[in-house]
Amino acid sequence: MLTLDNNCIVIFGASGDLTQRMLIPALFKLYMLKELPTSFAIIGVSRSDYSDQSFRDKLIKHIESDPDVDQAALDKFSKHLFYQAIDPAKVDQYAVLKERIESLETQLEIPSNTLFYLATPPSLYSVIPKNLAAHGMNKEDNGWKRLVIEKPFGYDLESAIELDKSLYKDFTEKQIYRIDHYLGKETVQNMLVLRFANSIFEPLWNAKYIDYIEVTGAEDLGIGTRGGYYDNSGAMRDMIQNHLLQVIAMVAMEPPAVINADSMRDEVVKVLQCLKPLTDHDLKHNLVLGQYTKSHVRGKCLSSYREEEGVPNDSRTETYVALKMFIKNWRWDGVPFYVRTAKRMPTRVTEVVIHFKKTPHPVFSANPPDNKLIIRIQPDEGTLLTFGLKKPGSGFNTEEVSMDFHYKNLKNTQLLTAYERLLLDVVKGDATLFSRSDAVHACWQFVQPILDYKKQSFDLYGYAAGTWGPIEAEALFEKDQTWRSPCKNLTDTDYCEL
Ligand code: BG6
Repeated sequence: MLTLDNNCIVIFGASGDLTQRMLIPALFKLYMLKELPTSFAIIGVSRSDYSDQSFRDKLIKHIESDPDVDQAALDKFSKHLFYQAIDPAKVDQYAVLKERIESLETQLEIPSNTLFYLATPPSLYSVIPKNLAAHGMNKEDNGWKRLVIEKPFGYDLESAIELDKSLYKDFTEKQIYRIDHYLGKETVQNMLVLRFANSIFEPLWNAKYIDYIEVTGAEDLGIGTRGGYYDNSGAMRDMIQNHLLQVIAMVAMEPPAVINADSMRDEVVKVLQCLKPLTDHDLKHNLVLGQYTKSHVRGKCLSSYREEEGVPNDSRTETYVALKMFIKNWRWDGVPFYVRTAKRMPTRVTEVVIHFKKTPHPVFSANPPDNKLIIRIQPDEGTLLTFGLKKPGSGFNTEEVSMDFHYKNLKNTQLLTAYERLLLDVVKGDATLFSRSDAVHACWQFVQPILDYKKQSFDLYGYAAGTWGPIEAEALFEKDQTWRSPCKNLTDTDYCEL
């Protein structure tokens, strides 16, 4: 039984962007929805010098910029925010932190339940848990202790295994919550309900009826000020190894026996372990890597990746990946999955497109209509099914029409953002939507050949910033297959309707 216990949330990396932009607003929203326990403290930790009050002022300024904010509620919420300066790399300084947590627990009558959120650079992911343990702050004698770790979990397969080894010295798997915010998205979770709560889709959800599947994770923005991080990461590590492979797992997994953390994650790992290993042939013919170049698109002048802040001017880091991959099991034998992601595409859109096979015998026209199921993860979240209609009038000509559902049409429903949902789950102790170590390893195992391949000389194709990527990616497709064009009429606001 999951309960909402009173607790302390300790955020390492409290002066950083993630804390300000995502974590604190998400916690405030949960507070507004009365989803946080009656007594709680949020303690920001970093090296910077803040008082409780100056920390509150800094974080609240961000939320206050929302004109609809409930100021009285925000003032009350801010009283739950505290700050403790320590250098997280220095083990002796944890004594001060421990004392601060204990004193707040006594003052606010909070039992010793603590959630440690690591919103820090990855280099601290093994250091902080070790230092916490040195002061006994991992011990669950009087209450639970949970560790939330942001992505990237490791830099490659070997470092992910090493990181786990280091964490397991002081924490158990049950205490570790590896966050992949894509699993917190309502539309990603809905894939399971769409598939397993409706009897009409699942019988067709296999190689017999599905021709191919596309997964697109397109972003219109460039890398902004994150050049230093991104140039060491690239789209492969930044988006495919985690977010998009998790999406594929949701599309391809078998139904879990029940919805709980073990059962769900058992099925996720099973399908990830069936990803067909990439061969040398795949690396040459089923993978396209690209990097955006300077352009003028729709009245905007966009700089090239190499001109971005923090990026070397001879960088060979990929900002575009297109990959054709397969899942080696009974359900998916021979069905290609085409995955693409990039920065500086024409718009922001994440979607999965299931292309069903054509009818075996085209009675009505030489070119039967497409049956596609489009699962729009963002924006304009929803689901759209295309099918053929008899063109009104004489004869039996067909045309493609659709049935569509948009979340925005749901009455009185507000979608929780990914961080709101995941923070709520971790406070409740529900690990269902967090990645287990075997799944993270399976993802690294799959992408490792690409990381190795990038160490040699490889083709990196340029694409003009603001376009759909290198033309070479078209060559990945088999006959009659191609990317769906997600935006027919891209407007000036770059909004892409389902
Ligand atoms: C992050 C990546 O994990 O996900 C970013 O580091 C990327 O580079 C972001 O922009 C995408 O998330 P979303 O929710 O905006 O699709």
